[in-house]
Amino acid sequence: MAKKFYIDEDECIGCGACSDSCPDVFAMTDDNIAEIINMDEASEEEIQDAMDSCPVDCIHWEDED
Ligand code: F3S
Repeated sequence: MAKKFYIDEDECIGCGACSDSCPDVFAMTDDNIAEIINMDEASEEEIQDAMDSCPVDCIHWEDED
């Protein structure tokens, strides 16, 4: 199973880059905040790309400092 990750919803500005990058994994809520809809639908590399595309760096791997 791929590494777990989470979105710091307080930091998300709703830019939508993550859901554009990985639409099977990330979606936008009605409040225009990103949510994880399926953690296992993408490789770690794809998730990392989504993380790197986030302008405020609010998607994080679990257990990473
Ligand atoms: Fe939010 Fe970053 Fe995605 S700002 S919408 S978590 S790319």
